[in-house]
Amino acid sequence: MQAKIKILPFKEELAKTLAQDFVNYISQALKTKDKLNIALSGGSTPPLFFRKLVAMSPPLEWEKIQLFWVDERCVPPDHEDSNYGTAYRELILPLGIPESSVHRIYGENEAESEASRYEHLILDMLAPEKSVPVFDIILLGMGPDGHTASIFPDQLSLWNADKLCVAAINPYNLQKRVSFSGKLINAARRVIFLVAGKDKSEMVKRVLKKEEGSMLLPASYVNPHNGILQWYLDEEAAQRLK
Ligand code: 6PG
Repeated sequence: MQAKIKILPFKEELAKTLAQDFVNYISQALKTKDKLNIALSGGSTPPLFFRKLVAMSPPLEWEKIQLFWVDERCVPPDHEDSNYGTAYRELILPLGIPESSVHRIYGENEAESEASRYEHLILDMLAPEKSVPVFDIILLGMGPDGHTASIFPDQLSLWNADKLCVAAINPYNLQKRVSFSGKLINAARRVIFLVAGKDKSEMVKRVLKKEEGSMLLPASYVNPHNGILQWYLDEEAAQRLK
């Protein structure tokens, strides 16, 4: 399915637009479902979105929403690199999201065993029939090298893993990661890329224009089989699309 692209002038408006759309997506979905499963990414961009969401103090029934993480750095939850830790401070605590709705990756655990634990948790909670679990919304970012989740260009085999969750390594600092694989990401109903900044513009162009070399980029493989793919970009990240 063709990706839907929204471009906003600046990252603040981008984050606010995504927050508004996100609330709409959830509200609509909860009209026909009594439980939603959402997976968040880490990095520096999602907190912009979290803050706009908090500022809206949206009347969402968080007890019906289960929060998971697309990936996590293998650090304790109180470490500054922790994706969960950031979301806790910027989203979970401010919105009073109940602990029972929050399912973090235990970054303090060994990567391989934690990937396995998390995969089984997701299967138990989303797909007891052991089919591929279908997340309602998966929020992704993209690195300036075209990585997404914690699947880096030199580890594309992890994208294609038969597993749902894998152990990965950030090749730049050798930090261990736990990440969703492509199998789990592409099963989602809605995958949203939130990408801002001119340092992402080259990879945004290569991925969205499917240019030569784009098949070396993990972000190029995000294509939900039975779902919607959306890119939320600021003008800096989109500047080479014109
Ligand atoms: C992570 C993320 C990662 C992130 C990109 C973009 O744990 O780091 O999941 O995939 O989305 O690296 O990060 P920025 O938003 O900081 O540019």
